[in-house]
Formats: sequence, C-alpha cells, structure tokens
Amino acid sequence: MGTTKVVPEVIVKPASKPLLEVKDLNVRFSTPEGEVHAVNSLDFSISAGEVMAIVGESGSGKTQTSLAIMGLLAENGMATGNVFYHGHDLLAMDRNQLNNIRGSEIAMIFQDPGASLNPYLTIGTQMTEVLVRHRGMNQATANERACEMLHQVRLTDVDQRLRQYPHELSGGMQQRIMIAMGLLCRPRLLIADEPTTALDVTVQADIIQLMMDLRRQYDTAILLITHDLGVVAGLADTVAVIYAGQMMEYAPVRDLYYRPQHPYSHGLVNSVPRLDQRGDQVLRAIPGNPPNLLDMPSGCPFRDRCEFAYSDCTAYPLLRTGRQDSLVRCHLDGLPE
Ligand SMILES: Nc1ncnc2c1ncn2[C@@H]1O[C@H](COP(=O)(O)OP(=O)(O)O)[C@@H](O)[C@H]1O
Ligand code: SF4
Ligand SMILES: [Mg+2]
Repeated sequence: MGTTKVVPEVIVKPASKPLLEVKDLNVRFSTPEGEVHAVNSLDFSISAGEVMAIVGESGSGKTQTSLAIMGLLAENGMATGNVFYHGHDLLAMDRNQLNNIRGSEIAMIFQDPGASLNPYLTIGTQMTEVLVRHRGMNQATANERACEMLHQVRLTDVDQRLRQYPHELSGGMQQRIMIAMGLLCRPRLLIADEPTTALDVTVQADIIQLMMDLRRQYDTAILLITHDLGVVAGLADTVAVIYAGQMMEYAPVRDLYYRPQHPYSHGLVNSVPRLDQRGDQVLRAIPGNPPNLLDMPSGCPFRDRCEFAYSDCTAYPLLRTGRQDSLVRCHLDGLPE
C-alpha cells in the first residue's frame, strides 16, 4: 500500500507578531552635572504597516528614543532594555549587524533634510550609493530605481534633480528626496523624526499627504515623531504621548484627539488649532516647564503643571488600562468635565 501524502487545505498563519517591540527602554546621558534621565521605562510596539506617532513637547525624549532604536546615541549616552525587530534585539547587535538593518530594513528621516544630505555629493550619487551598497545593484539599475523613487515623491525634472547638489534645492524638495532615499530599499519601518517641522505650512501638508500615499502603496510601518499633535491627526493609527521620557497615554488617534484621558494629552490637544473650532477660540499652551531630567521629582512627573493634581499625585502613577485599547498614567479615573 502506498503512502498517502496529506496536503493541508488550510495553511494556518502564525499569530502576527509586532514588527518592532520596545521593552523597558531607558536612555541615560552622563554629564558633568550628573546623569540625564532622557527616556524612562518606555514600552511600545508597532505592527507591520502601522503608523504610530510619538508626541511630546520639546525635550521630552522623542529623538533620543528613535536614536536609541537605531543605535545612534551620542557618545555619552547609554540605552538599556530591549528593542526587538522581528524578534532580534537591536540593542544587543554589533555595529555590522546594525549597519545591515539600518537603511535596508529600517530607515530614518530627520527634521533637517539639509543636514542629513551630503553637501559634496549629487543627489544621484547619494541615492544610488545606498542601492549599490545595500542591495548589490549595478549602477544602471540603481539609476533607474532612483528615478522611479523621485517620481514617487512627486518631484519633476528628475534627471536634472539627480545631477544637482543639495544646496540647489528647496527645503521641501530636500525633504522629498530624504523620503525617497528612506524608501529606496523598501524598508519595513520608517522612522520619521519631525519630518515636516522645518517646512512651510503648505509644504508640510504636501509631505504628510505624500507619506500617507506611500504608506498605502508600500505598507511600510511608520514611527512618526513630532511635537505637533496636528500633524498626527490625519496620518497615525495610534499615538503615544510622552512626557519627561515616560509614556503618559497610548491610544488610537481618534480617541486621543477627541477624548484625551490624561491631563497632559488634554493640554496638548487644546493647543492644536482645529478645523471644527471657531477661529476666535484662544489656543492654550500648557503653562510651566517639564521637570529637571537630572533630578526627577517623586510622584507624578506632571504634578507641577497639572490643573487636576490632588493628594494622591505625590505617589508615582502606574500605567493602567484606560478606555478601549488605551493606556493612561494618571491617578484620576477620567478627566473632570
Ligand atoms: N548628548 C546628550 N547629553 C546630555 N543630555 C542630552 C544629550 N542629548 C540629549 N540630551 C537630553 O535628553 C533630553 C531629551 O532630548 P530629545 O530626545 O532630543 O528631546 P525631543 O523630545 O525634543 O526630541 C533633553 O533634555 C536633552 O537635553
Ligand atoms: S496623576 Fe495627578 S498630577 Fe499626574 S496627571 Fe494625573 S491628576 Fe495630574
Ligand atoms: Mg527631537
């Protein structure tokens, strides 16, 4: 009797694991004044194709979080915890392993495109170098791919652009080129640190629209870092609000925008101009300053600036489950009306 080959009719897919999983991430800087606690016990994860935003005021640890993920902290900085990418800990990798992942699997674009582009090389040389080095392409194929990507980011006269040097292009064009370079190797994750902050308002809207289109087309996950909650409204799926390097609230973007649960998120939302508000409504910035990262106070880090602070707030609030799919670090169970 011959053996019967059993072919499964249904192929069971393994449960989808997060693309990036950040666990208990801490970033410390040694300085002559003492140890700066820039990022504190941060946990979050991003799935394939998801857009997650990290929002917080200037100095809240956004850039250091992304630099720690990419292994690019300054000399006096030290990251601890885990950053699992496809299950492999980036923080435990050596320089070679990280170099292989940077640019090909994970790409990063920064606030100031002018500073990230090499002023001495043409756009064409900078773009094709990446493909030749990371993808082993020959020069002709790399040129073709570079042209294609410049079209994708909606630049015109692409042959001319490839021959130009960065200073010959406007800030908006430079940022489009940075996005094109970021996406050249079809990364699974794009980290965009304040990608529109240095640009004019009209150009900002164009760049956001462009990122939305590219995300749809390539299914790239995006970690969008910004101080401007207005930027995330149309682009992100989920938002993490951070303050003094700590997660204060994590929620789907609509919930965070329309029903913030943390007093700090509430303050941030109130300082964003919104289409559904009357033009004469005064926007309120949150009064006061963030705590000293060299000497973090005990209790809730937002206590000095919180209009709802009460006696319990001298104890450190744990991150607790909030409304559906959200997390909140606050003793209050819901904001007073
Ligand atoms: N090399 C460094 N040495 C000491 N402190 C640093 C260094 N780099 C950043 N910091 C501090 O880390 C904190 C977080 O910075 P950052 O992540 O850049 O904030 P942002 O949210 O504006 O991106 C800031 O207080 C900053 O001064
Ligand atoms: S724990 Fe207290 S001080 Fe902190 S945000 Fe909540 S109410 Fe305000
Ligand atoms: Mg920053």
